[in-house]
Amino acid sequence: MTDTDTLRRPVAPGVADANGRAHGPDPVGDRQPSPLDPWGYELEQPNPLRDERAERTPAPCSMVIFGVSGDLTARKLMPALYDLAVGQPLPEGFSIVGVSHRDWDEATFKAKMREAVAAHARTPVTAESWEPFARGLFYVRGEFDDPATFATVAAALDRIDRDRRTLGNRLFYLATAPQFFSPIVGGLSEAAALERQANYQGPTEGWHRLVIEKPIGHDLASAQELIAEMSLLLTERQIYRIDHYLGKETVQNVLAFRFANSLFDPVWNRQYVDNVQITAAEALGVEGRSGYYEHAGALRDMVESHLLQLLTVVAMEPPAFFNGDAVRDEKVKVLRSTVPPTGAAVAAHAVRGQYATGYSGGRPVPAYHEEKGVSPDSQTETYVALRLGIDNWRWSGVPFYLRTGKRLPRRVTEIAVEFKQVPHQMFGSIGQLDPTPNVISLRIQPDEGIALRFAAKVPGARTQLRTVRMDFLYGAAFGEAGPDAYERLLLDAMLGDPTLFTRRDEVEAAWSIVQPVLDAWAEPGAAGPAPYDAGTWGPDVADAMIARDGRAWRRP
Ligand code: BG6
Repeated sequence: MTDTDTLRRPVAPGVADANGRAHGPDPVGDRQPSPLDPWGYELEQPNPLRDERAERTPAPCSMVIFGVSGDLTARKLMPALYDLAVGQPLPEGFSIVGVSHRDWDEATFKAKMREAVAAHARTPVTAESWEPFARGLFYVRGEFDDPATFATVAAALDRIDRDRRTLGNRLFYLATAPQFFSPIVGGLSEAAALERQANYQGPTEGWHRLVIEKPIGHDLASAQELIAEMSLLLTERQIYRIDHYLGKETVQNVLAFRFANSLFDPVWNRQYVDNVQITAAEALGVEGRSGYYEHAGALRDMVESHLLQLLTVVAMEPPAFFNGDAVRDEKVKVLRSTVPPTGAAVAAHAVRGQYATGYSGGRPVPAYHEEKGVSPDSQTETYVALRLGIDNWRWSGVPFYLRTGKRLPRRVTEIAVEFKQVPHQMFGSIGQLDPTPNVISLRIQPDEGIALRFAAKVPGARTQLRTVRMDFLYGAAFGEAGPDAYERLLLDAMLGDPTLFTRRDEVEAAWSIVQPVLDAWAEPGAAGPAPYDAGTWGPDVADAMIARDGRAWRRP
């Protein structure tokens, strides 16, 4: 058994687990009995967001961020690390070495990071909280193809290990374009800063781990090539491929909803479910990322990663344990059973669109092909709608409709499970039944929560029915916002818990699903992306695609 396999198994209170970690007092037994409300529910529920923190402090370590002058570090990584540090689950001596080609000195680096944290962190920056955090910040200037850069990083890490007692534990984060992944990992290996740890057993000392951002490759072949290259230098257990959707509280809550309740599983299958719609809509446009986005497009940027991850959590079978291998085995199985359209069927079951001029938030916005850095005759899609099937016992015959787009009317991500109509419309002639079927919508963002739509009788002497909603709101139930996805994922990587990271076979399976669509779209003569006005729900052809199945997109 490895260090992390046991992380999430229940351990008796006060007893050390297999990692040597002692667990705190029994969280239930130690609590004073709470008063009961008239329905018998406890009024003072423990707040898991707060209670968990004390237990999850990783061993002392340093983190090296390549690409530290970039947008991801400023908007996500540094604010998340600062929020973690303020919330206290970071170990003593925790240090960050930032690496970039920018001609900064350490004071400039710290000032830039403070600015970024002040703009994007959840917790306000005060001198009292910033100074201890900033004492652990170090800067290395260097190019990613220069061996001297890696020698300097190695020396800085050795010095930090000595001065700040970080025990040789190292987390390397590649916040860079994917073409730098191999040169950086190669350079670090040459400099002996990052070692392949095939027989590494200990959970607390001398671990070396690597976190990489999507996209892993550009298509199936390049993803496989990159994975193979990395596997020469590192073991799979050392590699943490981040998909920040898996760090979102509400995505993890889909697993809790499905597998910690007995109510829903009996209807979560082809007998009761008519179709599943997964939507990730964004109001923003390309926002200065054209250099990357022009080569990616919505299918690679969102579908291959985030949307297929949402599909796995809603469609996978229950794993036997909540640990890295059990969860990911199930996710891989469902991805391998997922059937994309191929060849001629791509035109019927996959739609690509590109935003034209229109309105966003009430102001006029340019078309995608007018954005800075975008070619005027760009064929890059900013919208995708896709119909997938899952050929297994549970889902055979149930269509999964996925759609995502930029410059849609608003930012909303949800998974909607639409149920079949009742077998017999008993109220049909007398009840003016609103024909909308039951829907469970799992709202990932914003207004995080779960809603159930069902039919109810309108009060009055007549038998008239109407659709109503029952709502669970995350914020209202737990009283505080959960941590940002990056906080959760960075902490998990430091703790050595890979459950919420994508395994190599998962990445390959996801690329295999989008590859036939990429191939068909690359065919000479294939229709280009259909234009849609910015601020609308996508091109008409996407409505036509689902209408051919006798269904319509939900308006989330
Ligand atoms: C990123 C994509 O992975 O996810 C972006 O590259 C997209 O294009 C973003 O905007 C959406 O993330 P979120 O958390 O805002 O839904």
